[in-house]
Amino acid sequence: MRPALLVTRRIYPEAVEYLRRHAEVDYAGTDDVLSPEQLLERARGKQAIVCQLTDKFPAEVIERLEGVRVLANVAVGYDNIDLAAATRKGILVTNTPEVLTETTADFAFALLLAAARRVVEGHLFVHSGQWRRWAIDLLVGQDVHHRTLGIFGMGRIGQAVARRARGFSMRVLYHDVHRAPAPLEAELELEFCTKERLLEESDFISLHVPLTESTRRLIGAAELRRMKRTAVLVNTSRGPVVDEAALAEALARGVIAAAGLDVFEREPEVHPRLLELPNVVLAPHIASASVETRRKMSLMAAENAITALEGRRPPNLVNVELWTGG
Ligand code: DGY
Repeated sequence: MRPALLVTRRIYPEAVEYLRRHAEVDYAGTDDVLSPEQLLERARGKQAIVCQLTDKFPAEVIERLEGVRVLANVAVGYDNIDLAAATRKGILVTNTPEVLTETTADFAFALLLAAARRVVEGHLFVHSGQWRRWAIDLLVGQDVHHRTLGIFGMGRIGQAVARRARGFSMRVLYHDVHRAPAPLEAELELEFCTKERLLEESDFISLHVPLTESTRRLIGAAELRRMKRTAVLVNTSRGPVVDEAALAEALARGVIAAAGLDVFEREPEVHPRLLELPNVVLAPHIASASVETRRKMSLMAAENAITALEGRRPPNLVNVELWTGG
């Protein structure tokens, strides 16, 4: 009998075709976000779920999943899933690393440049017909080249951002729970430092940490006060890594100069004060959103799900401790 699988929300059609070749697929093909009850209802009788970061799987939902063997998340981050609860229940969790690394790093740099050089303010200025003449200090921003970039989290995406920074002749500081291997530090000319030093010395700070209990509110009022008044903060990781209210306050009061944000604490809600500030560039969680990458993420999640259903180790298994197969 073919296995049954749920795809919670719309993904690229190639991935749906692939899944349909291997399983009975429950696919509504909408962008609707399922409530926990709807999720449980649709998951009934399924052995796999291809899910997205908008699908929340806390312990109380996971405990009520019956017969589900794999949760294949279409994202590199999996903070929407209680991993410990899934592991306890023997449910494999997979993600989509690597395919989105360069795309996400491009976007982090796009936000950094846009915030530093006031690209959105310039666009709105021209668009609203306010541009009358060239002026010596019209929308002057900050140089990016030869400045200091501080990176929190030197994983794949952090490294890809550091590589881009070299093209701008930037000095790169980083902080992480694990120090990068010496050859990598040498290749990317990275300087490992404390969180405090990174906050104090960086002109630009880019966040590339996963959301865990230890990174939640990594950047709050105290950290913002430690930064330079000219600092620009970029967040393409997860919203709750930053205390959004504290950031809005800091941007409004000139504690730091600007920010570029792709992720928010309660997406799709954005702190109302942020919406009123000119010195923040806001994007709707699209750092990995290139056509190629989103297609690859869809296919990768589909392959993870099918591989698990076939009893083989899925290529991007997160809770590897569950794997006892060949
Ligand atoms: C992820 O993959 O975790 C991103 O946030 C969405 O691409």
